[in-house]
Amino acid sequence: MRSPHDIAEAGNSLKSPDFGLAEKLKSKTARVGVIGLGYVGLPLLIALDRAGFPTFGFEIDQSKIDALFRGESYIRTVKHEAVQQLIAGQRFVGTTDEKRLVEADVLIMCVPTPLNRYREPDLSYVVSTAEMIGRNLRPGQLICFESTTYPGSSAEDVIPALETSGLKASEDFFFVYSPEREDPGNIAFETATIPKVVGADDDISRELGVLLYGNTVEQVVPVSNTKTAEAVKLTENIYRAVNIALVNELKIIYDRMGLDIWEVIDAAKTKPFGFTAFYPGPGLGGHCIPVDPFYLTWKAREFGLHTRFIELSGEINRSMPHFVVARAVEALSRHRKQSLAGANILLIGLAYKKNVDDIRESPSLELFEMLEHGGAIVEFHDSYMPTIPSTREHARLAGRKSVEWDAETLKRFDLAILATDHDGMDWQLLVDNVPVIVDTRNALASYSGNAEILKA
Ligand SMILES: NC(=O)c1ccc[n+]([C@@H]2O[C@H](COP(=O)([O-])OP(=O)(O)OC[C@H]3O[C@@H](n4cnc5c(N)ncnc54)[C@H](O)[C@@H]3O)[C@@H](O)[C@H]2O)c1
Repeated sequence: MRSPHDIAEAGNSLKSPDFGLAEKLKSKTARVGVIGLGYVGLPLLIALDRAGFPTFGFEIDQSKIDALFRGESYIRTVKHEAVQQLIAGQRFVGTTDEKRLVEADVLIMCVPTPLNRYREPDLSYVVSTAEMIGRNLRPGQLICFESTTYPGSSAEDVIPALETSGLKASEDFFFVYSPEREDPGNIAFETATIPKVVGADDDISRELGVLLYGNTVEQVVPVSNTKTAEAVKLTENIYRAVNIALVNELKIIYDRMGLDIWEVIDAAKTKPFGFTAFYPGPGLGGHCIPVDPFYLTWKAREFGLHTRFIELSGEINRSMPHFVVARAVEALSRHRKQSLAGANILLIGLAYKKNVDDIRESPSLELFEMLEHGGAIVEFHDSYMPTIPSTREHARLAGRKSVEWDAETLKRFDLAILATDHDGMDWQLLVDNVPVIVDTRNALASYSGNAEILKA
């Protein structure tokens, strides 16, 4: 830890209250560091480089830094060429050495915020990262926190960990919370074209945050404090989780009534106001939507409040794989006079959504386990995921390999469940070669062939 004397010395040598950082951000000479180069951190790093900032990447996983310097992307939705441009620009420093954090003028934290096994917020990555920054913090640095979290987390968890340095927030260093809104696989938007919300608890920090992000993305939306910015992000994801649960519930009801939810939504969305289309599916997946709402649930308890909408939507969304399995059992018995036990089932798409290679919280893994538990012989195909990596909750599936996508292979199956509809798939081959298909994405609506197609 630095002595008060060192801190005073460093502070005195830089006269302005912002330690000259505003000028460095305006002239894009400030070195901007990203901590945690995952789905969020890597695209952000590339956007900062493209904006003209010298950049700095810190990772605990050395293999990611090595891949970057070889010009390789380890995230499917980030192109190798984008990484090659980053390296060729020669403005990027990448390291696993925490001592080098002092080289950055700005440090942006993009580390995971999962739930623990009791479905409570796990801030261990965030707090240990903030403590690590604290060990290396110098006066005048701007710390930005982007991970999704509950209102109050910056002030109660992160800033105190940074202040173990002996430096004081809003005086010796600056702090903003700016939630990441990355949507991997969405080709309509990239980091630079998604507006960025910036919250700070003092004016200088907010001004620095607006300068940083204003130089990197097209639109910045300043809000009055870190808590508000934290609530903005949770509100966005809770809105999604609740609306997806609503259409999932409507799907089951309409199905029983003999109605097609997809046709209903397509017609409803022609209303030019007051209706936003959300679509049903086999359940919720990804690092965000199934997880983030429960950060608020946990925090609300401190205020003696229950988040009934959030709990209910979690319950509905988590029950969707049961609906899909029930439909598969019904389809096997009706069309194949067969039970689940011993049936050869092809699960199509392991990723939690189309065109990504991310299986975190994917309902496909849940389906896989449920079907095998019922005695089915399950194999999968996912062009984005040749082998199932090890996961905490589905460890026994690790190492299974995607089967080929050809007529001979498809003919081996009694039934297929279409869980994720990656673009570019030859669906005609599927409907021509598998006798029964349960389609959870309405991907086969315009196809016909030898198969019986049931929606679920
Ligand atoms: N993935 C998304 O689509 C998305 C979208 C919006 C917001 N978010 C939020 O962004 C945050 C990060 O998510 P992600 O999907 O990028 O996670 P990720 O797991 O892809 O990446 C996190 C990275 O941080 C690294 N890391 C962990 N601890 C570290 C430490 N102490 N120092 C340095 N690196 C460390 C990991 O090795 C990993 O590379 C989460 O809070 C998430 O909720 C994610």
